[in-house]
Amino acid sequence: MKKPSLRTLNPAKFLKAGPNREARIMATEAKPLPKLNEYPANKIAIALHPKKQVVKVTNIVERASGVKSYTLKATTDTPIAYFSAGQYIVVNLQIGDYLLTRPYSISSSPKQAQVDNEYELTVKRVDGGLASNYILDNWTIGTEVTISAPAGNFTYEPLRDAKTVVGLAGGSGITPFVSLAKAIADGDEDANLMLLYGCATKNDMLFKDELDAICEKCDKVKVVYVLSNDKLEGAEEGFLSAELIKKYAPEGDYSVFICGPQGMYNYLDTQLPLLGLRKKFIRHELFGEYRNPQANADYPECVEKSVKITVVCRGDATTIEADTNDTILVSIEKAGIPAPARCRSGSCGWCRAKLTSGDVYIPKDVDGRKLADYDYGYIHPCCSFPLSDITIEIFKK
Ligand code: FES
Repeated sequence: MKKPSLRTLNPAKFLKAGPNREARIMATEAKPLPKLNEYPANKIAIALHPKKQVVKVTNIVERASGVKSYTLKATTDTPIAYFSAGQYIVVNLQIGDYLLTRPYSISSSPKQAQVDNEYELTVKRVDGGLASNYILDNWTIGTEVTISAPAGNFTYEPLRDAKTVVGLAGGSGITPFVSLAKAIADGDEDANLMLLYGCATKNDMLFKDELDAICEKCDKVKVVYVLSNDKLEGAEEGFLSAELIKKYAPEGDYSVFICGPQGMYNYLDTQLPLLGLRKKFIRHELFGEYRNPQANADYPECVEKSVKITVVCRGDATTIEADTNDTILVSIEKAGIPAPARCRSGSCGWCRAKLTSGDVYIPKDVDGRKLADYDYGYIHPCCSFPLSDITIEIFKK
């Protein structure tokens, strides 16, 4: 194949190319460009961020009453995507006519993904919950599941975080910390973890044996159990508080990572300011869907119980009935319309949609939109509630 001159091909780039460089380039063999997904960098990107992964349930462990861990293994020889401790994956579910996605933190180690080609998810039964209860009642060994690539930034970042992480976990919010503890013990993360794990009773504690075993073999991981409604030898009594954090945190800088139910965040909001930590040293993962917006003082009065949502996607419009108690995302899913979603807590931006008419209520504590989104009318349907008939445009990924 005869090559055209570089200057003809791209004069702006090659006009100043030195003669030696141009001669070397011209001397190379001319061949067609590889396909985009054949470039080494793109191969790595596809391996780390596949659009979807198909896995199979290969093991189920009952952790406590109403809590099970599921091992999900790749169904082909293609390796599953690697992840950082603290990340989650999104599970796709079809329940009757509902098309749902739900994020679950990975409780296994990154090493397990690499060596055994599997993730472990832990699912807890929720009163009136749809997805978690469906999984607990229906997933058996062999169930095939479509999941996303690992996502989320509740991860240890040495350039940002202090060397010691004080982990504050509540209930099933322990899962990302189990993964982090394993990653530290495996030598995949260079950090110390001082974990304060709060539960109501000892029957609610998850992964205690695994955590105790990690502490035995790795002196970088320490765990203190904190029970609000029970007693256990060696455990603290009460709630995760500033006083307790001060008691166990190291001298000097430390990061605080928080994962647990909304009530725990509300209480910690009153406690963390007492520690005088720099903002970058406080990181949290929201856990669970935002419910009951009417309980907030700034929720408007006289909102109808039911409204209409017109969902526009690639030019097609569908109008559905919606309960103003449900997030817009939940209403769309209930109508069987597939909608993009990942974190479901307002932080990742994956569900971002344009509000073209009507009013919505967005609780301040979960409004993770960028400034430009406010100006141009974009919302996160996963944490926005309709106040009137609305029209939104969603964007399929
Ligand atoms: S799904 Fe993450 S912001 Fe809505």
